[in-house]
Amino acid sequence: GAADLGPYRHYMQKEIFEQPRAVGDTLEDVESITPELFGASARQTFQDIDRVLILACGTSYYAGLTAKYWIESVAKIPVAVEIASEYRYRDSVPHSKTLVVTISQSGETADTLAALKHARSLGMEQTLTICNVSTSAMVRECKLAYITRAGVEIGVASTKAFTTQLTALFMLTLALAQAHSQLSKEQAAAHVKALRHLPASISAVLALEPQIMAWADRFATKENALFLGRGMHYPIALEGALKLKEISYIHAEAYPAGELKHGPLALVTELMPVVTIAPNDALLEKLKSNMQEVRARGGELYVFADADTKLVSSEGLHVIRMPENYGLLSPILHTIPLQLLAYHTACARGTDVDKPRNLAKSVTVE
Ligand code: G6P
Repeated sequence: GAADLGPYRHYMQKEIFEQPRAVGDTLEDVESITPELFGASARQTFQDIDRVLILACGTSYYAGLTAKYWIESVAKIPVAVEIASEYRYRDSVPHSKTLVVTISQSGETADTLAALKHARSLGMEQTLTICNVSTSAMVRECKLAYITRAGVEIGVASTKAFTTQLTALFMLTLALAQAHSQLSKEQAAAHVKALRHLPASISAVLALEPQIMAWADRFATKENALFLGRGMHYPIALEGALKLKEISYIHAEAYPAGELKHGPLALVTELMPVVTIAPNDALLEKLKSNMQEVRARGGELYVFADADTKLVSSEGLHVIRMPENYGLLSPILHTIPLQLLAYHTACARGTDVDKPRNLAKSVTVE
């Protein structure tokens, strides 16, 4: 009830602010990277497989998309990510040396469970789940598991479950890399150090809330929004658009920024806010030219830039600077302001934030 909301207006806001704790707890038992974090038999399994198939729905699917960038870049293992409800009903080409990874907050999503069974029926026996409920059907059905410690998530729009899934998936990336001799001891230690710094980094990003609230007031009057990201931030743009759709009912779409010119640019007018995730990585210069294309058509840009990005606010260009540069963990940190933007936009529109219309927390029937 309202009693356990503390200073927060909604469970979603409380859960957004719980993320330093949730991610910290998810990392609690991690002293170093080892396959055994995922189960006693994980080392052999990780060595035996030569590809990964990720199956999930909704926000969990976007966690999977992010993991593809990490695993292919760090562990050098090919990854396919599929929406569970599509995978279960299409003809696909099975490969026995596949690690099948399901991602699910609840562990009870009917489509994800059915997709897992479908993969097994095709002869893929190596199964692992990243799940937030240790007693769920998903954990019972998979050989290996990593239990995230988000705690009970009440808001229908997933927040802390997503960032803890990403945390677990980054550890999976490192464990797979280690099993495939792609990770030195020094590299592993540096990654663990960066992981341990996550709760403090998330807290610092949460402190941007007042700046994001000012943006939310402007979004509340809009009916459409575009989210742009490149590379491993493209799935984060998808997640940001999903959050906005789910709780504010503003139509939002995400694009990898390079695709702008192949369609969505036709929609850009002064009525279209364009949220851009612009970390200072190798793609920043390209992103800047995408942003100019938006400005030239009168679109308002709302940019999340890293600490040392030389971007300053000007007419039609609003910049919020992230406190640090986060390297490979950047998708986790860039998720936070997008959650806050969706949350405060929904509040400004007066929607039922914790129970958006037509949606369920856990979809246990098809
Ligand atoms: C529902 C929820 C989403 C969630 C999705 C998958 O649509 O509203 O927040 O991402 O199900 O749920 P799961 O429990 O499998 O992660």
